[in-house]
Amino acid sequence: MGAIQTTRTPGIPNGWFAVAFSRDLQVGEVKRIRYFEQDLVLFRTREGHPKVLDAYCSHLGAHLAEGGRVVGETIRCPFHAWQYDGSGQCVSIPYCKRIPPQARVNGWEVHESNHMIFVWHHAEGKPPYWQVPDMPELHDPEWSEPRVFELEVNVHMQDMAENNCDPVHFQYVHGNMNVGPSEMTYAEEGRFFRMTSSNEHETPMGTFDMTLERDTWGLGLSSVRMLGIPDAGLLMFSSTSPIEAERTVSRWLFTATKNMVDLAGEDFIDGMSKGVMQDVRIWENKIHRAEPVLCEADEYLVEFRKWTKQFYSTPA
Ligand code: FES
Ligand SMILES: [Fe+2]
Repeated sequence: MGAIQTTRTPGIPNGWFAVAFSRDLQVGEVKRIRYFEQDLVLFRTREGHPKVLDAYCSHLGAHLAEGGRVVGETIRCPFHAWQYDGSGQCVSIPYCKRIPPQARVNGWEVHESNHMIFVWHHAEGKPPYWQVPDMPELHDPEWSEPRVFELEVNVHMQDMAENNCDPVHFQYVHGNMNVGPSEMTYAEEGRFFRMTSSNEHETPMGTFDMTLERDTWGLGLSSVRMLGIPDAGLLMFSSTSPIEAERTVSRWLFTATKNMVDLAGEDFIDGMSKGVMQDVRIWENKIHRAEPVLCEADEYLVEFRKWTKQFYSTPA
């Protein structure tokens, strides 16, 4: 098969994916969401726990987010008031004594941290075998309240993640951003990798020898840290999630040490979000090449593509 025809996408990967910013889900709130090509309902219980269930009631199939209500730790279906707990089990049918054993919907594994609500997706239903990494800067009083940024793009999420391992595009898409040669290290049984590159950078606080540290956990989660400015720092954390195979949402948090925000951090953060926007036109209009023609400068891409394979279940 030649490279030209192979545009099939790799499907929906396994891993942790953000489905909302924490601040966008108040206690008692119910949201209709769609991820992993599935209709879901997201709600926050009275005790404050975010929960995600399959959207359609096991009774007559009402969408739980269209008029459903949080009652204590459960969600109540808008149609006949069956109540489901966070695991998806029906725990009450107000007009019946007996609850049929099959009265349940699929419940998803949810984790809240780093100002985001994450869901575990696994095509074969396997439970989580790794954790969402904690970003200490996001709850450090010396760091600024994070700025958030959200972007929905018609592109396969792997193509968005691939950007990080594509040093050449920085020059052509983002102008003069010189990323320099990178070193790659792996951890967590190969699920995690870190790319570091060092370079002189002009910053609002002067010109420094800085290290750009780019971390990736699975296909959905990544962080970028700027190291090397004395007593100051900057962090971007992002979670990218598949809505459909070729529709993706990316959520970003930007934070900097307060001394840096005071000087020029806002401009710095603005510059970074503009950088992401420069990629959008490419992403929106590209296709996924399963077997791209590569050149000798694409060594990181080759390594990245090999690495991504562990996050897909082999199709039946
Ligand atoms: S459809 Fe949900 S209770 Fe009847
Ligand atoms: Fe880019």
